Amino acid sequence: MRGKRLQIHKISNNHPKLNCNPNSDLKHINRPTWVEIHTKAFKQNLKSICSKLNKKTRVMAVVKANAYGHSAVHLSKTALKSGADLLGVSSIEEGIQLRQNKIKSEILILGSIYPLENIHSIIKYNLTPTVSSFLSLKALEQTAKRLKKRIKFHLKVDTGMGRVGISPKEAVRILPQIAKLKNSVLEGIYTHFSVAGTDPKYTKLQLSRFNSVVKLAKKLHLKFAAHAANSSAILKSKESHFDIVRTGLMLYGMYPFYGARKKIDLLPVLAWKTKITFIKRVPKGTSISYSRTYITKKPTIVATLPVGYADGYLRRFSNRAEVLVRGRRCKVIGRVTMDMIMVDVTKVPGVSLGDEVVLIGQQGREKIRVEELANIAGTINYEITCGISYRVPRIIN
Ligand SMILES: Cc1ncc(COP(=O)(O)O)c(C=O)c1O
Repeated sequence: MRGKRLQIHKISNNHPKLNCNPNSDLKHINRPTWVEIHTKAFKQNLKSICSKLNKKTRVMAVVKANAYGHSAVHLSKTALKSGADLLGVSSIEEGIQLRQNKIKSEILILGSIYPLENIHSIIKYNLTPTVSSFLSLKALEQTAKRLKKRIKFHLKVDTGMGRVGISPKEAVRILPQIAKLKNSVLEGIYTHFSVAGTDPKYTKLQLSRFNSVVKLAKKLHLKFAAHAANSSAILKSKESHFDIVRTGLMLYGMYPFYGARKKIDLLPVLAWKTKITFIKRVPKGTSISYSRTYITKKPTIVATLPVGYADGYLRRFSNRAEVLVRGRRCKVIGRVTMDMIMVDVTKVPGVSLGDEVVLIGQQGREKIRVEELANIAGTINYEITCGISYRVPRIIN
């Protein structure tokens, strides 16, 4: 690089309009770090998932945690328009957010409804709670009675996940009680698999426990939809499809287990990008970032990017992850800081201030998949996209 002059251009502001809070005075001020959401890819993934199902099987799009970091409101609307039948969220707040954005479909709260005073809001916003205990069933019936309303709910059975739900044994006691309720109406019975992608034997065991509960409920002439399958089970266990499947990860173009790529073609829905906002040439022996974990071994061109662990770009990526600049892989050097990272761009011809940088996604022929970052961090793809923080605007394409 000796002798070559660094090109210092004005930072261009030509990335697409950001999806910021429209009421905010800040809407015209764009820190150049953003996530792009590819609606077409999402629709295509939903189509590919549906092709694995029976025509009668309904699809619940799991859009909790801001659609795994991808924009819950937009993708909920897209999912419902493109073949999904209902939505799954984690909390009452997430359900209310969708209702406030004019989403009318059934919304199942997959997570906790505690404290039970919140049942008022569930009724007010016409959300569907999950009942996981006698206590919550009782509270639901009492509140619905007091408000003179009928409330639909799904019963959760813990067949081996060990998280929430009544046990199959308790189902024997609770189902006859459910059959007698006046204000609470059973709409669904479901369970959740813990190892559907990796352990068919244990999944079969969970399935047989679930089937015994379903059989009993039918014997009591209860009418309900049964559901169990997540993304992994959609691909691995046809017998678990029942009346509804609940898919999250695959909608967003990510694969739920090693080898899933052979079973379904999915397109990434999210790309995470930023721009070079500072660039410098430094001599050999220069210390980069906190704790001096990286010292340049030769003269180096260092680019600074406005993204850090407060955006969800994990500190574990320090000295390990790569980004794409002008279609080339460049190493993150030194510690990831709260708001900035440094990358070695020495080998990128023509590298300039303002160059677009890809953290997740494709540039030229190179790709950085979510899974690559997950491997570096010793985690799963879910955690990487869910962790992209609120301060990174999502741009809808
Ligand atoms: C109860 C429940 N059902 C379905 C899903 C969707 O799982 P996946 O994203 O693997 O499809 C989740 C996700 O964590 C869940 O908690």
